[in-house]
Amino acid sequence: MSLIEEIRTRQNITKDQLVHLLTTEDESLLTRLKITARAVADSVYGNQIFIRGLIEFTNYCKNDCYYCGIRRSNTRSDRYRLTEDQILSCCQNGYELGFRTFVLQGGEDPWYSDDKICAVVSRIRSSYPDCAVTLSIGEKSEESYQRFFDAGADRYLLRHETADETHYRKLHPEEMSLSHRKNCLRTLKRIGYQTGCGFMVGSPFQTMDSLYEDLMFILELQPEMTGIGPFIPHKDTPFADRPAGTLDRTLRLLSIIRLLHPHVLLPATTALGTIHPLGREMGIQAGANVVMPNLSPTDVRGKYLLYDNKICTGDEAAECRCCMQRRMEGIGYEVVTDRGDFR
Ligand code: SAM
Ligand code: FES
Repeated sequence: MSLIEEIRTRQNITKDQLVHLLTTEDESLLTRLKITARAVADSVYGNQIFIRGLIEFTNYCKNDCYYCGIRRSNTRSDRYRLTEDQILSCCQNGYELGFRTFVLQGGEDPWYSDDKICAVVSRIRSSYPDCAVTLSIGEKSEESYQRFFDAGADRYLLRHETADETHYRKLHPEEMSLSHRKNCLRTLKRIGYQTGCGFMVGSPFQTMDSLYEDLMFILELQPEMTGIGPFIPHKDTPFADRPAGTLDRTLRLLSIIRLLHPHVLLPATTALGTIHPLGREMGIQAGANVVMPNLSPTDVRGKYLLYDNKICTGDEAAECRCCMQRRMEGIGYEVVTDRGDFR
C-alpha cells in the first residue's frame, strides 16, 4: 500500500511518515497527497464550501501570548469593543448576505462578562433561529461554557496552539498552561459543543516533534473543527523578527489533517490568504472546506491585528462575501447558504 493510502485507511500516521511528508521534494507524492485529501473532503462535503461570518467584537485581552498582536502588553494596539447592538447589526448584514453561522471572536476581555455574552448569544439565536453561533473567546470555567451553551452557542473555537509542553512554554507566559487549555477543550466537548482546536504553522520554536504532538492531540480529541494557519509576525510583539510559517507547509498539513480526520470542518484561513494571494483557494484544493469572511464593521477591522499585513481590513462585508464566492467558483466550488454543521 502506498504511504498516502496507508495514512488514509489507518487514519493514523507515524512520526517518520510525518517527517517524510513534510520534507519530501517528491512532487508526484505531494500531488497525490493533495488530490487524495481533496477527494476525501469531496466524499464528505462534496463541492460545497461553508462560510462563517467572523465578527471580531473586542480586541482587549488580558493575556499576553508572545505571538499575538493584541496581547495586553502591546500598548500600541488601538483598543475597541463592539456593543451588543453593533454585533446584532453585523449579524443582520451577514444574514442578508447568506451567512448562517456567526463566529464571535475576541481577546479574553473581562468587560464582556458571562451575562453579556449570554445576552448577545441569545439575542442572535432568537433573531436568527436558523443560524449557528460559534464562540471564540478563550479559556473560561466549565460553568461559563455551560451558560453560553444554554444561551444557544453551538460551537466553540479554542486553538490549543501547540500540544507540546516545552513549545507551549516558549509561546506563552508562566500564567498560562497547556494542561488548562487542553482541559477546556475536553470540557467543551463534554458539554456538547462542536469544538475546534488548532495551531499555527511555523510558530517560533515549532519542531517536527511538536507538530507530531499536535496531530496526536487532534486524533485524541476528535474535534469537529480544526483551525490551522501560518504564524505571521506582528511588529509590536516579542516575535516581531521571526519568519512567518510557509504556504507549502500549511498546505501539506491541511491535507494530512484531512486524511487523518476525514469529517473535520477545516478552514482555509485569513492568515493563509495573507501570506499568498491565492492561499485560501490552495487551502481548499488541499482539503479545506470552510472559509471565514469578515463581518466586522469597517471602522474596527484595521484594529483587530493579530499579525502584520492582514488582508481585507478595508473591505465591506458584502465585498468580502462576493469576493469569496468568486474565488471559490473560480476553482469549481460552491459557497452555500447553510449552517454548515459537522457531518
Ligand atoms: N482569545 C481567543 C483565544 O485565545 O482562543 C480567540 C482570539 S485569538 C487572537 C485567535 C487565534 O489567533 C489564536 O488562537 C492564534 O492561533 C491566532 N493568532 C494569534 N496571533 C497570531 C499570529 N501572529 N499569526 C497567526 N495567527 C495568530
Ligand atoms: Fe489574547 Fe491574543 S493574547 S487574543
